[in-house]
Amino acid sequence: VLQKLFIIISIVYCGLSAQANYATRYAIGPDTYTPLVFDDVVALLDQLPQKNLESLLAQLRQNEPAMFRDYVLMYRSRSLQGASFMNPRALLVGRNGHLVLSFNGHSSQPGYAQLEAMSYIPEQQRFEFREISFLNDSYQVSEANPQKCLNCHQSSSRKDVDPRPNWEPYNVWPGSYGSVGHISPVTYPHYKDNDRFNPELSQLKDLENLRMGEFLETNHRTHPRYQHLEPMVELRTGQSTRYFTASSGDLIPNSMPTRFTHAIIQTNLERLARLIRQSPIFETYKETLMGAIRCNHFFMPQNVYQWHQDNYLRGSENNFRAPFISNQGLYGGILSPSIPQSISFIFEPHGIDTTDWSTDFGTNGAFASNNRFGGPHNLTQDLREAMQKVWGRNDPLLTQNCQELAEVSFAKMEQLQLESFPTAQAPSADQLIQRCISCHAIDRFFMFNAPHIPFGEPWALAPQLQQEGYPRGTLKDEIIYRVGPHATITERMPADGYIPTPPEIEALKAYLEDAL
Ligand code: HEC
Ligand code: HEC
Repeated sequence: VLQKLFIIISIVYCGLSAQANYATRYAIGPDTYTPLVFDDVVALLDQLPQKNLESLLAQLRQNEPAMFRDYVLMYRSRSLQGASFMNPRALLVGRNGHLVLSFNGHSSQPGYAQLEAMSYIPEQQRFEFREISFLNDSYQVSEANPQKCLNCHQSSSRKDVDPRPNWEPYNVWPGSYGSVGHISPVTYPHYKDNDRFNPELSQLKDLENLRMGEFLETNHRTHPRYQHLEPMVELRTGQSTRYFTASSGDLIPNSMPTRFTHAIIQTNLERLARLIRQSPIFETYKETLMGAIRCNHFFMPQNVYQWHQDNYLRGSENNFRAPFISNQGLYGGILSPSIPQSISFIFEPHGIDTTDWSTDFGTNGAFASNNRFGGPHNLTQDLREAMQKVWGRNDPLLTQNCQELAEVSFAKMEQLQLESFPTAQAPSADQLIQRCISCHAIDRFFMFNAPHIPFGEPWALAPQLQQEGYPRGTLKDEIIYRVGPHATITERMPADGYIPTPPEIEALKAYLEDAL
């Protein structure tokens, strides 16, 4: 009876809450040990008689069992590590979310010999990436943040080193078991035109459940790596099946990626708090930004608003939110931006690329139920907590009321010499197309074996773009897929390792449209 009641509660709960059914906060658990950091992992490995990944996992399981509880399994991955339904890429997260490890399971997969690691360093609000490579019972640890990792873990426009996790915000995670476990069928149409979900979402859920069942019966139990993962419990209700690890201690079981997402989003919000503070326009705009975030108003006169509007790139905007509502609010100023809009709208016109301030990997947060910074909780509250942690609880920006923020902000904004600011350059497709040309339209066949596509000659390109017979439809469809956020590393274009920014991709799409 209790279990039935439990199931009913969860159904009702899922049905009602648009946001998370994430009842307990992360990091509440029975464990009393200190979570491991990356150096501990290396130290453990050092002591092992057999220096291989399998023995390391067995040892880690003893030292930090929680890591083997809050894991995510990717059956399709856009990373350096291959993945399949039977040999998924496993992502393990430590109890406080400060260490994430990943591995896969078949010797034929790229990245099989590597354990990838991401550490969060709370004192600096920074992430650090490393990989441990195993070979013949010995191992090698990479330097911190090698270029190999930065290629994907920070924006290609970034000049310094400041990587971040690649993880879609709450609540759809393409390629992971449980990927659509947190959206209700009612919202399916909303995701449908959202690029190449294949198969359809409703079938995807069934497919994942079917394959998960097979995986649990086989590799999950017996595989030298996966066997260390805590067993999954299956929760079947009328329409849906959910998998979760029993000891997670959640009141209502979350599908796997939710806990993981919470951990990732929290640490990245602390990084965001630092990035905001470090930005060159912070001193000028701090009250304006906090007015937008905390009071839901742009405390700026019309001409400044207009300047921002005109120079706004829309590269990192969330696709799904309504446009700004231009209105006079209680304290004057323009009403009611969302947090991600506030951030893009204030920083991007000044040429500050905010695409890698959030964790979405090339999607602009297109799958987010709410926004590109969002986890399973309320973003306003999460961001406030992160700012309190990083800036200090008594920072005036967090304690001033809206009236005070409005007064200071208006005073500063009215004195702004906007002409003196360099404005953001809208990206053109040129540079990206030069890359395409360098392999596809110049005779470098002997080097790259790239099929001839006349990217530099719109008149010749146009008829080809409409040709059918490519895996995703026409050549145009294939191009958009290949440069887009869903392509895996073997499919991704340009094939020279460069990851285009979302505005660059938009510019390329516009170039193709123009050619047609
Ligand atoms: C080709 C792009 C790409 C490169 C290069 C890359 N990653 Fe990732 N990484 C991803 C993506 C995409 C994810 C999200 C999960 C997935 O799809 O498997 C990810 C996820 C991760 C995660 C899990 C935490 C998170 O960010 O979600 C770790 C840890 C990680 N990568 C480590 C590394 C390390 C270490 C390197 C360098 C050796 C590296 N990655 C290089 C694309 C990449
Ligand atoms: C470093 C060389 C290189 C660069 C740069 C490059 N490509 Fe490719 N591309 C290839 C190779 C090699 C193939 C064939 C292998 C494959 O299909 O992945 C290919 C295949 C393709 C295909 C599939 C064509 C077919 O006939 O199936 C498309 C579409 C494509 N590239 C688009 C692009 C676009 C768009 C760019 C620029 C943004 C680009 N490529 C840049 C090397 C490159």
